[in-house]
This record gives sequence, C-alpha cells and structure tokens, in this order.
Amino acid sequence: MGPKILVTGGAGFIGSHTVVALAEAGYEPVILDDFSNSESSVLTGLRSILGKDIPCYARDCNDYALLRSIFREHQISGIIHFAAFKAVGESMQEPLAYYRNNLGSLITLMDAMLAEGISNLIFSSSCTVYGNPDQPPVTEETPVKPAASVYGNTKQIGEEIIRDVCAAKPLKAISLRYFNPIGAHPSAEIGELPRGIPNNLVPFITQTAAGLRKSLTIFGNDYPTPDGTCIRDYIHVMDLAEAHVSALRYAMAHADVHLYDTFNLGSGQGNSVLELVQQFEQVSGSPLPYQIGPRREGDVVAVWADVQKSSNLLGWKTRRTLKEALADAWRWQQKLAGS
Ligand code: UFG
Repeated sequence: MGPKILVTGGAGFIGSHTVVALAEAGYEPVILDDFSNSESSVLTGLRSILGKDIPCYARDCNDYALLRSIFREHQISGIIHFAAFKAVGESMQEPLAYYRNNLGSLITLMDAMLAEGISNLIFSSSCTVYGNPDQPPVTEETPVKPAASVYGNTKQIGEEIIRDVCAAKPLKAISLRYFNPIGAHPSAEIGELPRGIPNNLVPFITQTAAGLRKSLTIFGNDYPTPDGTCIRDYIHVMDLAEAHVSALRYAMAHADVHLYDTFNLGSGQGNSVLELVQQFEQVSGSPLPYQIGPRREGDVVAVWADVQKSSNLLGWKTRRTLKEALADAWRWQQKLAGS
C-alpha cells in the first residue's frame, strides 16, 4: 500500500485527473469534495479508469474536526489542496464568499495538518499572479503583480499565508502556478464539466463544435500579438496532474522541514486564440464557426511559462502535445453528447 494522499476538490477537473495520476504512481488518494461545482459521475469515471473505488468524503473542506478525523483514520501523508471557488467574474460580485471559502479552508487545513503532524502540502495556485507580464515567458522570479480579480487575490494571498506558515512551523509546501489546463483523460471517462455557458476557451470551442453553441466569439483581435489575439500557455490536464505527483515526491523527499517553493506548470509554449481554433479544426476535421467580438475586460495580452525550474527540480515536463489535448477534449465532449 502506497502513501495516502488527501485530495481536496478531488472530484473537480484538475483534482480528478490528479487522482488518476496519483493512483497510477502508487499512491492511495482519498477525495474530499463538497460537490458544489462537480458531479458524482466523476467517481464512476474514476472507477472505470482505475478499476477500483476511491474513498470519497462528500463534505466541505472547511471543517477542522472532519479534517483531523480523516487524517487519523487514513494516516494521511500529504495533501493536495484544490478545493476552491474559481470563477473570476463571480469573485468580483461575491468577494467575501471567495475570501472566506478559498482562504478560510486553506487556514483550517493547515491548522489541522499542524495539529496532526502532517507536513506535505501542494497548493493550487495560478499564473494569474503574474498579471500582464512585461515580457513573457515568466519565471518564478518574475514579480507578482497586484491581482486583477478577487479570485486571483485569493491565490496570491494563499501563497503568502503558506509561505509564512512554512517559515514558522514544520510544514513543507509547494505552490503550483497553473497556466491554462485543457483536455481530458484519453479514456474520455473524466473531463471538464463546466456548468452553464463556459467561460473558458476550450470548453466553448468543443461545445460549439458539438452544436450546443452557435458560434465562438473571439474576444478581440487587435492586441499587440502576431495575429492580434491573446496568447496563453495551454497544458494537457494529465501533464498538469502528473506534475502534482512530482511535486509531492519532491516535498516528501526534501530534508528541509520548512520547505516552501513555487513552480510554474505550463508547456513553455504560447499559442494564440486563433491558433487554437485552427488546431482544433484540424483535430475535428470541420470548420469551427466563430466571429470576432470586443475584448473581454481584464484579459491578459500574452503569457506563457518558463518551465526550467520545474524541469530541473521536479524532474517534470509536459509529454503531450496541444493537438493531443484538443483531441482528448473533443473526445470527451462527444462522449458527453452521447451519454
Ligand atoms: N476566449 C475567447 N472566447 C471565449 C473564451 C475565451 O476568445 O469564449 C479567449 C480569452 O479572451 C483568452 C483565451 O481565450 O484570450 C483564454 O481564455 P480562458 O478563459 O480559457 O482562460 P484565461 O487565460 O482567461 O483564464 C485562466 C484560468 C482562470 C484564471 C485566469 C487568470 O482559466 O482560472 O486564467 O488570468 F483565473
């Protein structure tokens, strides 16, 4: 039996794929998820992929007594903390809910970890901490900019809280700054399940291709980029998931009981919105209906990751191509349409 890892938000998009990566690497994941933004069908998908049930607590993670009892019952060795609200627009309307949920649960979790002597924490952060960088790619040393959204601020403050706790207490932690996760497990048993109209580009593309949306609106083509559309670093969600396993291994093996570090998780490559549309058309074999609309407020012009540090210290880098990610996202969308 491998080390047991608590995955908060383990039924979510990145969380569920990380559960697969953990199990495949010999760890024993335990899920804690309140299903406020995920579906119980994810557990069925996980069972199909892994051939076994993953223990799951359908509860809020902001519960100190519950956390302590899970830690003890399962003899948890490390925690990957995904559970958080993540809608940028909503965060501006409901700041207190975001600060309370995202930071409250982090504080409760670390309190419970310290009480039970658990020392390995992996935190879901975001490339949003870099804001609109002056010169991409961004390294982990690139100055953090004032957050453009409440959601982004919960990630920045979350990183700072963890850093301060690690300096004072025996806690080893790593913040992983995600770029743009896309795709799905190649089995199409799990994938992204956006509720309502998707905010993110790839689910909007696949829903448009499936006929659920009439047409994609590209938010602006007058940016100072080669084709005028914004540039991001899209990363296959399974590559991202595997990085969590590498980060956990790194933390667990690290001698410094006060370890705190940050890592970029991206492909290291920037692609524009138009490039994504073109690549998707090649993957699906059909033209995608789209039109150019106005810019979306708050969008970063261009950002992609320098991944040297992750590669050097975590021994991790992406293995899947953008086309594979789009093909997997498309297979998942077709599976959803058929089910
Ligand atoms: N885009 C469109 N049309 C759409 C949706 C997106 O043109 O219908 C464009 C956006 O303008 C952007 C690119 O596609 O240029 C990517 O947009 P996403 O919404 O998919 O991703 P973002 O980079 O905006 O968002 C990501 C994460 C968020 C995080 C944010 C912070 O998904 O969780 O970065 O910058 F908060």
